[in-house]
Amino acid sequence: MTKRVAILISGGGSNMLALAHSMTGDHPARPCLVLANSADAGGLAKAEAMGIATAVVDHRPFAGDRPAFEAALQQALVAHSPDILCLAGFMRVLTEGFIAQWQGRMLNIHPSLLPKYRGLHTHARALEAGETEHGCTVHEVTPELDDGPILGQARLRIMPDDTPDTLAARVLPLEHTLYPAVLRRFTDGDRTPIYLS
Ligand code: GRF
Repeated sequence: MTKRVAILISGGGSNMLALAHSMTGDHPARPCLVLANSADAGGLAKAEAMGIATAVVDHRPFAGDRPAFEAALQQALVAHSPDILCLAGFMRVLTEGFIAQWQGRMLNIHPSLLPKYRGLHTHARALEAGETEHGCTVHEVTPELDDGPILGQARLRIMPDDTPDTLAARVLPLEHTLYPAVLRRFTDGDRTPIYLS
């Protein structure tokens, strides 16, 4: 049976678009919802242009009450009956209680070669550390931030003249290839990691 995928975003939604465009033809999933935590998220209009349902659950009125925000998030999600959640540049930390409701069904993309550089500013941190390689990781979401079983990684070689911006720009297309590839495999029930280089 076709799986329903909800994609959570905070920004421009280029990963969301890559995922949504991949779910056509004989793909075993279809996007059922793009949800943002801000009405300003540029990806919302892109999803609407593709005919995908959208929703906004703004975290700001909850003023730090994470469980209340997540209750609203959960309500918006279940209204669209997703089987799988894809976090795609969703910039809110989720609590254990929320994650438990989706554990084993929620994926995230992170712009580093996990377990290195969890959290923010991954490109700058990789450069500062003198890394020769960098990349991105898709993983299952578990309560620890940017942790959870790795489902795929794509890597590149850091160039001597790379800056955080050039590195981000070179990693992003890798994200767009990796995330759809992992989602497809995951939807088929296969959690074998995919390694792209
Ligand atoms: C991506 O680099 C993602 O890995 C990071 O935020 C960025 C989101 O970009 N967490 P987009 O909204 O998918 O264009």
